[in-house]
Amino acid sequence: MSEADEQPAATATGREIWIEKYRPQTLDDIHGQSEIVERLQSYIAQDDVPHLLFSGPAGVGKTTAATAIAREIYGEDNWRGNFLELNASDQRGIDVVRDRIKGFARSSFGGDFRIVFLDESDSLTDDAQAALRRTMEQFSDNTRFILSCNYSSKIIDPIQSRCAVFRFSPLSDEAVGGMVREIASAESIEVTDAGVDALVYAADGDMRRAINSLQAAATTGA
Ligand SMILES: Nc1ncnc2c1ncn2[C@@H]1O[C@H](COP(=O)(O)OP(=O)(O)OP(=O)(O)O)[C@@H](O)[C@H]1O
Ligand SMILES: [Mg+2]
Repeated sequence: MSEADEQPAATATGREIWIEKYRPQTLDDIHGQSEIVERLQSYIAQDDVPHLLFSGPAGVGKTTAATAIAREIYGEDNWRGNFLELNASDQRGIDVVRDRIKGFARSSFGGDFRIVFLDESDSLTDDAQAALRRTMEQFSDNTRFILSCNYSSKIIDPIQSRCAVFRFSPLSDEAVGGMVREIASAESIEVTDAGVDALVYAADGDMRRAINSLQAAATTGA
């Protein structure tokens, strides 16, 4: 699902979307996924970030981790200019994706590398992945790729072997419940333990779903 499809109906009321308002800005703010967060932080601390492959179900922090990495490397003012987000399922095909990567990777800038974040990379056919692999090789000097997918088994081996692979898990009930309580408190909403439990149960490890349900309940006063 592209980020554009994820906006819940609350926009109609002119209210800010909580999944964006409360999207963690730093790796430290990510709930759960602690082993992944620690390894990513150590890459940044050592100034040695490899290509990354993030796999796992929806709403568990893959896109969030990618943008947090960019924020930490480039800072709040500069990260957007050094971070290209593309969707691999772009209907116009891999050639358009490749051309945009080329244009981005070639344009001059001050740092060591820029980041290309390629969402839904498991939607690429094997042929398109082979083309992507060549593009990755071509621009490895000044570009780091972060590929996101639901199923790493759909990514061809030559790409997997060029990436550090991170398998994101569905979030624990504690992680989801903790975030729901934090947001409820920040928004001055009273939630009962049973209410939190019900949201956590329905979310089934998907933080996006939990936050959207909380916002929907708060909007309708349910
Ligand atoms: N681990 C987490 N800690 C805190 N908030 C999270 C976490 N994971 C997801 N969220 C919340 O859910 C929203 C969606 O998360 P994100 O975009 O990272 O999902 P994703 O794993 O990339 O899912 P998809 O496979 O659908 O792209 C975020 O904006 C954030 O509000
Ligand atoms: Mg995502």
